[in-house]
Amino acid sequence: MRQLSALSHCGAGASERQESDSNAKLVDRFGRIHRSLRISLTDRCNIRCQYCMPAGRVDFLPTSDLLTFEQIQRVVAALAPAGIEKIRLTGGEPLVRPEVERLIALLREVEGIERIALTTNGMLLTTELAMKLKRAGLSRINISLDTLREEVFQVLTRRTGLQRALAGIDAAIACDIPLRLNAVILRSLNVDDILPLARFAQDRRLELRFIEFMPLDAERHWNQGNMVSGAEIRTMIEAELGALESVARSDPSQPAQDYRYVDHSGTIGFIDSVTQPFCGSCDRLRLTAEGKLRNCLFGHEEWDVKKLLEQGRGASEILELALDCVANKHASHGIEQSEFRPPERAMYQIGG
Ligand code: 5AD
Ligand code: SF4
Repeated sequence: MRQLSALSHCGAGASERQESDSNAKLVDRFGRIHRSLRISLTDRCNIRCQYCMPAGRVDFLPTSDLLTFEQIQRVVAALAPAGIEKIRLTGGEPLVRPEVERLIALLREVEGIERIALTTNGMLLTTELAMKLKRAGLSRINISLDTLREEVFQVLTRRTGLQRALAGIDAAIACDIPLRLNAVILRSLNVDDILPLARFAQDRRLELRFIEFMPLDAERHWNQGNMVSGAEIRTMIEAELGALESVARSDPSQPAQDYRYVDHSGTIGFIDSVTQPFCGSCDRLRLTAEGKLRNCLFGHEEWDVKKLLEQGRGASEILELALDCVANKHASHGIEQSEFRPPERAMYQIGG
């Protein structure tokens, strides 16, 4: 019933898409079909990026509060028949959790799951681990790389370890697993890394995406002035590295706009989440490390799946909860509005 009420608000375009996909049940009031689930495996991290975590003591979740891998598999198995087909494992830093390959193998068993990706800071990614993850069925890895200078890395992450992150990138390359680099730029910290990062990716033929700094940092230091827009980054790159032309999106739900260098020396992507919100084509749900479903990074509401799991409830009840979560999704994040209020939780507690 709830599912029907969620559907009844859909526009015509959405119902057409609906007919073409018999699995699609997670459709919100605006006709957005949800196919992607981002799962945070932990809120812990081995570094402290300024755009994410606080500098001081952090009260992490007790390990006993985290969903077990088997519980995560139950949630995914409940949502896959309703159209969830893409999984992204995030954190915190997902690789601080032991045996992530075991979870990947469990998720691979779920019918309907087509792609499993991982977002990591790369510091724990050895070639041996990358191989294990790939063998278990990991489809792609995104590694955060915001600077190529150790001294900037130390200020930005409040820890040492750029060489370890670079070694993680090498490990992913050595295992031939599809790889993308993600960079977040803060005007006060790493604007001077934009061109070196673009050259680094261009020279190695690696995919690179610049993600606009969003108001999700634990210390609430975000402000428009410290965010460097994608447009500004593109202008800097074009001035130094050559003209860019936009590439048509193959997947309308992908948040990035890709560009190619007109001299064919590679492509580069931009996730302009603040200045060019992509909420209209968002297909994502999120599951936090302690088992709360969220319909948006910027949402203020959560749906408690863990409680259902602990009560031994079945797939239909988990799906019912997810339908309610989807039915309550807002049209957009509204960062540009004066009444915007950032979420209570920071990025590391939600899952990137
Ligand atoms: N704004 C934009 N991106 C962020 N990330 C973490 N915090 C923020 C933020 N405030 C990104 C990281 C990483 C992924 C986990 O999320 O760069 O790529
Ligand atoms: Fe850790 Fe990722 Fe947050 Fe950086 S952005 S502190 S790597 S969870």
